Amino acid sequence: MSQISTFSFPTTILYGVGAVKELKAAMEELEIRKPIVITDPPLSKTESFKILTDVLESHGKDYTIFTEVHPNPLDEDVVKALEVYKKESCDGIIGIGGGSPLDTAKALAVLAANGGRLADYDVQQGGGARITETLPPIIGIPTTAGTGSEVGKCAVITSSTEHRKFMVCHPRMVPSRAILDPQLTVTLPAHLTAYTGMDALTHNIESLTAPVFHPLCDAIAVKGIEFVARYLRRAVENPADLEARGHMLLAASMGAIAFQKDLGAAHSLSHALSAVAGVQHGLANAICLIPVMRFNLDVAKDRYALIPPFFGVNSFNMSDQEAAEAAIEEIKKLSQAIGIPGSLREIGIKEEQFDEILDKAYRDPCHLTNAKPCSAADLHELLKEAWRGEDR
Ligand SMILES: [Fe+2]
Repeated sequence: MSQISTFSFPTTILYGVGAVKELKAAMEELEIRKPIVITDPPLSKTESFKILTDVLESHGKDYTIFTEVHPNPLDEDVVKALEVYKKESCDGIIGIGGGSPLDTAKALAVLAANGGRLADYDVQQGGGARITETLPPIIGIPTTAGTGSEVGKCAVITSSTEHRKFMVCHPRMVPSRAILDPQLTVTLPAHLTAYTGMDALTHNIESLTAPVFHPLCDAIAVKGIEFVARYLRRAVENPADLEARGHMLLAASMGAIAFQKDLGAAHSLSHALSAVAGVQHGLANAICLIPVMRFNLDVAKDRYALIPPFFGVNSFNMSDQEAAEAAIEEIKKLSQAIGIPGSLREIGIKEEQFDEILDKAYRDPCHLTNAKPCSAADLHELLKEAWRGEDR
């Protein structure tokens, strides 16, 4: 016990139906006079976005809107947002939407305070150490329940010149406030509810099994898995189920809090699949999670064994191995029930794309904290398995 550990959960989370109305108080507490509201074009036309602007206007708040965020946000998007931020003399950032606007909001905060180019802060190039200035306050308002970016310290950005994803991470990038209002997620289409929900599940599972000492995150991850097991199917089948929507928002935030520990091989493959073939992040994770869980089974079975009761399976008389296998089976069933395709083949990935996917996956840092070491050859096997899929 000679090593000292640090555990920090800095975001104040406002949770519940109508929580978005607390935005005014949050802005005042953070001394935000004029925020830039970051979102993407589809979301800017939704009822959820109108609820937000109505709140701002009903309180007479000055604000500006930036909507030019790509589905996988580009470094160029952040540069454009910075121009607006400066021109409008903003002093705070509100990100509303899925992971893309929220990550853009956090990356904007880095550039606004530290200058330079986003690539300078690439975590793989030691960029975190270059984030030295205090960032403007960030408020994260998710309209999907997946990335949990509203409580996370990272932004995933795509380089517009190199066509690769890179991560910018720093504890200062964790938003000061997260507003989890289930009402803002009810218009999310069923397939996106399913994909983003499986992303949340993958965060919780990969962080629970990452070989990093963080018992607090472990406990949060277990509860996050339970919420996905109990509520994702309900949220997909009944979009207006506010109890299910709310618990999925919590599961997503809990997943992102838990992955302070880091993630695993499913995320390396998923990042590469998005960069090479534009596969939706949560969908890629959902398909890759099963082979990765099988790969990790021998070292992670004690933690996988916690999962079956969350799906209503009595594992009392099972060995860890049996319970872990039952967990994988239940996750496969959930995946199927919510309409996730069974293989990368089914979603149009070609074997000719493997080399490029593997090159990017191996250079992605997530697999470095996989439950067990994962070589380039292992990633190749996992990709092949995810491509083939399984009979179900
Ligand atoms: Fe993810």
